[in-house]
Amino acid sequence: MTLTIIPSDQACGAEVLGVDLTAPLSSEIIAEIRAAWLKYHVLAFPNQMMNDDDLERFTLYFGPFGDDPFISPIPGRDHIIAVRRAADETAPIFAETWHTDWSFQENPPAGTCLFGITIPDQGCDTLFVNQHKSLQHMPAELRARLDGRMAVHSAKNAYAPSGFYGDNDVGRSMDIRPSDEANEERLHPIIRPHPETGELGLFGCVGYIVGIDDMEEAAASELLFELYRCQTRPEFQYRHKWQANTLLMWDNRSLLHMATGGYAGQDRLLHRTTIGAYTPST
Ligand code: SIN
Repeated sequence: MTLTIIPSDQACGAEVLGVDLTAPLSSEIIAEIRAAWLKYHVLAFPNQMMNDDDLERFTLYFGPFGDDPFISPIPGRDHIIAVRRAADETAPIFAETWHTDWSFQENPPAGTCLFGITIPDQGCDTLFVNQHKSLQHMPAELRARLDGRMAVHSAKNAYAPSGFYGDNDVGRSMDIRPSDEANEERLHPIIRPHPETGELGLFGCVGYIVGIDDMEEAAASELLFELYRCQTRPEFQYRHKWQANTLLMWDNRSLLHMATGGYAGQDRLLHRTTIGAYTPST
């Protein structure tokens, strides 16, 4: 089997053809996919007639399952969550803000796999933005202010009972379970080497970043706003247009991503797994 990898003409992203993800993969193919994932950051595998077993097997080629807090897994599975929206749903779109998955954890996940099952015929693109490029093109003065700084990450604005998906979030078809655990805080460097490639990039984004360690709140908010503008520039983005039966796999260590709307009146369903943090033996 030989993979065909077609880079997007955008700041990251590639399509991978010539592989059947319903069958076990050889170690050579897995190594090729891993190399492409690290190079292009987000890979799309179209026309895969996968089931949940196939999705779990594929995920485990790239690391252990990550821990998915605050969202219940689908019945019968411990490691698959449903990203779902009903045609008549009026709650805000899930994840329609820039973020990197579960960055508030002590060992945030390496990646995410998302498989399209029911895909509307318009809208619902997923956007990505390359955090290596954002850092490379950051003004030197801003970079100097961020160098060595630790961001305070927390899920409180999203998943605490008072958060966006908390007690006041009604009419949502996703099985979200807000909790006081969301108030926990963890520190991660704002500029850091990618754990697998060593390439420097920006990590995390406002939303899960709620402050900067050892910095007064107003000054931190101003700096985080400047950082956000630099992180999300359109020229560093990739827009993924969904088709049913496409598997998307992205690197949470080098990208931010966000969902988009534009499909009112149509159902959308995707199954998602999380690739846990990388250790050299993975
Ligand atoms: C996510 O952030 O996992 C969801 C992305 C999407 O629904 O497009």
